[in-house]
Amino acid sequence: MVKDRFKKLEEYRRLAHLGGGLERIEKQHRKGKLTARERLNLLVDPGSFIELGDFILHRATGFGMDKFFALGDGVVTGLGEIDGRKVALYLQDFTVKGGSVGEMHAMKIARTIELAIKLGIPVIGINDSGGARIQEGIDSLKGYGEIFYRNVMASGVIPQIVAIMGPCAGGAVYSPALADFIIMTRKTSFMFITGPKVVKTAIGEEVTFDELGGAEVHASKSGVAHFIVDSEREGIELIKKLLSYLPSNNLEDPPYLDTGDDPNRTSSILDTIVPDDPIKPYDVKDVIETVLDKETFLEVQEHFARNAVVGFGRLNGHVVGVVANQPAIHAGVLDIDSSDKISRFVRFCDAFNIPVITFVDVPGFMPGTHQEHGGVIRHGAKIIYAYSEATVPKITVILRKAYGGAYIAMGSKHLGADVVLAWPTAEIAVMGPEGAIEIIYRRELAEAENPEELAKKFVEEYREKIANPYVASFRGYVDKVIIPHETRPFLAAVLDHLLSKREKPPRPPRKHGIPPV
Ligand code: HXC
Repeated sequence: MVKDRFKKLEEYRRLAHLGGGLERIEKQHRKGKLTARERLNLLVDPGSFIELGDFILHRATGFGMDKFFALGDGVVTGLGEIDGRKVALYLQDFTVKGGSVGEMHAMKIARTIELAIKLGIPVIGINDSGGARIQEGIDSLKGYGEIFYRNVMASGVIPQIVAIMGPCAGGAVYSPALADFIIMTRKTSFMFITGPKVVKTAIGEEVTFDELGGAEVHASKSGVAHFIVDSEREGIELIKKLLSYLPSNNLEDPPYLDTGDDPNRTSSILDTIVPDDPIKPYDVKDVIETVLDKETFLEVQEHFARNAVVGFGRLNGHVVGVVANQPAIHAGVLDIDSSDKISRFVRFCDAFNIPVITFVDVPGFMPGTHQEHGGVIRHGAKIIYAYSEATVPKITVILRKAYGGAYIAMGSKHLGADVVLAWPTAEIAVMGPEGAIEIIYRRELAEAENPEELAKKFVEEYREKIANPYVASFRGYVDKVIIPHETRPFLAAVLDHLLSKREKPPRPPRKHGIPPV
């Protein structure tokens, strides 16, 4: 009977929606977590979700799996819309075998990413999983491998956003790590290669889940997470916000939005933001927020490598990526972590046609054995690589210090910046005055009756003659020296011109470069 067939379908649909059943849904709620479908409902526009593969079943037989029946195999996948924009989605369902990844579960995720690549739409994943489904052994590993492969194929083609809202352990961490952005929920999410028990056995270290791989650790220490949120709802809102800055694929421009903020708005507070004392700090975020359209700055990796600031914003409605040194933290020095943070962000912007605006106030690269032995040379080189490679519009504003290799690395004219602006407070030189005069006037200082006074005189002379924006502008390394309050109107006007940039540099053909990873 046709009616019975319809009934069967209804029953299957009901079962698929139920996931691991009411008891496990309750358990999920007790842990302060939502289910995959609840998360989905908060994320996509109402009525827009088209679920695909909801009846997919595992086909394992060992360890009692032949008696286990769960339609969908622990992951909800499909196509939907977020704020009217098409996206592909996968959401792991912890209520089904702990969201563990078996062969078919993995296939669903891999297919979702593959479809997203073909359609040129962002892929969004919400992870909540016990990792490889132990009962499925090597088939599960194969599944992971196929997901990773799709993540790599998607890289730089479509944005990939992953929110971790539960466990993410073992090799499973590498799928999010290959994505562009990771969001983690405080207290309920963790990521690690091996859990506390194995850590204890292997190296005798006692550590809690949170200390090992909680959201705070990854947002502030490891830099694995780009965003940390207090709740799942906040995480879902953040996905939407992040998406609003991103194009759907590498062939599109990022979405324009009329912010209503006058591009010619000047801000006199910028004229006094750089202190008279050159070693006094200030908060570069004040500069960024004043220059960009009001309340549009979305900081990325806010708690990691805080001596650098990166994030998205809008200028006269156009999406821009902002990179800045942060003089308020370690004088804005470049080190291993900030180099990684900056270079990865610049590469993301370049892949997705997002112009890069760089604010420079950098005393140099961090010296010392800790940094040298950690490979600050290799990491710092990534910044140079990323800026040189980037063909999106690149505008640089030198606010104060721009010394040595760090001057070159931070989006200088020499690495292909289209327009370089400088404030009158800029100091562009091989090194800071104090260090420089000790080298070039060593003999004079050694012989002086009052070396301190003489040093002061030499420093002033150096600053006057060399550490200013004019030597660089006489050479054309700085295109224009501007009064700080003019920064927003200037940047908006320059950006408006640069949006038509089409750079096809005369580069020798190659398969790909070899960035110093
Ligand atoms: C199969 C799993 C599972 C797994 C959890 N479950 N993890 N089933 N394979 N990896 C099942 C449980 O048996 C249980 O089933 C249900 O999911 C819920 O799990 P609980 O343990 O009750 O939940 P909870 O107390 O919240 O603990 C969650 C957890 C824990 C911390 C994730 O389940 C756990 O430690 N799981 C193992 C994690 C792990 O070591 N995974 C392998 C990592 S290595 P029932 O039927 O009772 O509801 C790895 C390699 C990947 O992933 C390599 C890729 C390259």
